[in-house]
Amino acid sequence: MQTDPLRAGATRIGTPLSPDATRVMLLGAGELGKEVIIALQRLGVEVTAVDRYANAPGHQVAHRAHVIDMTDAAALRALVEKEAPHLIVPEIEAIATDALADIEAAGVSTVIPTARATQLTMNREGIRRLAAEELGLPTSPYAFAQSLDEMKAAIAAIGFPCVVKPVMSSSGKGQSVLKRDTDIEPAWNHAMAGGRVNHGRVIVEGFIDFEYEITQLTVRAADPASGATQTYFCDPIGHVQVAGDYVESWQPQAMSPAALAKSRDVAAKVVTALGGRGLFGVELFVRGNDVWFSEVSPRPHDTGLVTLATQRFSEFELHARAILGLPVDTALRAPGASAVIYGGLDEAGIAFEGVAEALAVPGADLRLFGKPESFVKRRMGVALATGADTDEARERAKLAASKVRPVSAR
Ligand SMILES: Nc1ncnc2c1ncn2[C@@H]1O[C@H](COP(=O)(O)OP(=O)(O)O)[C@@H](O)[C@H]1O
Ligand SMILES: [Mg+2]
Repeated sequence: MQTDPLRAGATRIGTPLSPDATRVMLLGAGELGKEVIIALQRLGVEVTAVDRYANAPGHQVAHRAHVIDMTDAAALRALVEKEAPHLIVPEIEAIATDALADIEAAGVSTVIPTARATQLTMNREGIRRLAAEELGLPTSPYAFAQSLDEMKAAIAAIGFPCVVKPVMSSSGKGQSVLKRDTDIEPAWNHAMAGGRVNHGRVIVEGFIDFEYEITQLTVRAADPASGATQTYFCDPIGHVQVAGDYVESWQPQAMSPAALAKSRDVAAKVVTALGGRGLFGVELFVRGNDVWFSEVSPRPHDTGLVTLATQRFSEFELHARAILGLPVDTALRAPGASAVIYGGLDEAGIAFEGVAEALAVPGADLRLFGKPESFVKRRMGVALATGADTDEARERAKLAASKVRPVSAR
């Protein structure tokens, strides 16, 4: 039997585009996947990028690019057989995760972090039941509903204000905050229209009146001494969400020692239960010393784009190292912030003006993702900045983002 070239602590990386290459397949090639690919490329890995549309950001920096419907199990299986990657790295949730489970069971490729983790986290019900019912972690009160009547019953038990979300959705799609009875029917209709795969199932969550919310980036990676998998923590990331979509993030978020300790305890329990290797984004709500688990991404998190400016190794480099069985270093280098640049217009092939002005802001940096088509609310880029503290960094990042003007190229 061939020894595993990516055995933790004894990783051997071959030459790209040779029979000996270390091959990784990204499922999803957006802005987060693009940075993971760049990190892998720097370590001499051969990368295949897959997305549902042509010229996705990650396609532009990979060795090979494929366009398939990743929710199509047969198409996914055929591509994996053709490419024979050592590692399959999901970047999005909308994937035929049952096919990933078959691939993993057959020993064809290793799924990052595990096929089960991708199955549990693609559906709010799976991860919520694991966190609250199996691991006993603090969460908002919740109930699931399959019809408008069931939703009314759930809300009667949980009370107002509450939040309704399709069980299969991301980036705030289909979500509503409900304050009174007249909000119920519109929330149901919004959820039915906004779910990724319309299963007609929603979660009703009690509204948590948090002081702030964080992403606790948590890495399961090889300990260099023993090769055993250990849990490592980045500094907490604070962020602002508008309509369920992240617009601004900063690191480190100031926290009480007790809240930080609780957050890390929750994060360690969740990522240990999901298993495998890689970086996870654990979302938590905090008020005083109270902490609630919200959700987890078994992959780099959008709010973690800030780590491109703040950490010795960004979350993308940490993910690349962890999945290859290499050691990680989660040290913070400088306080920093990120601010999202939206498309602001619906058009293919737009241009960006004001880039030089943005980069003239002290401590600022920029990522333009290269997405082929712009939408008003599509994330097209991000401004990054460091500063003496996160307040200064946030001002700089927002200023830099405001200088970038997406314009029609026509
Ligand atoms: N139960 C809740 N109480 C208060 N705010 C919430 C609750 N659930 C979600 N939110 C807000 O909405 C945002 C998006 O919700 P989340 O469950 O993370 O959905 P998504 O999967 O789309 O990111 C959260 O980051 C938070 O700001
Ligand atoms: Mg979220």
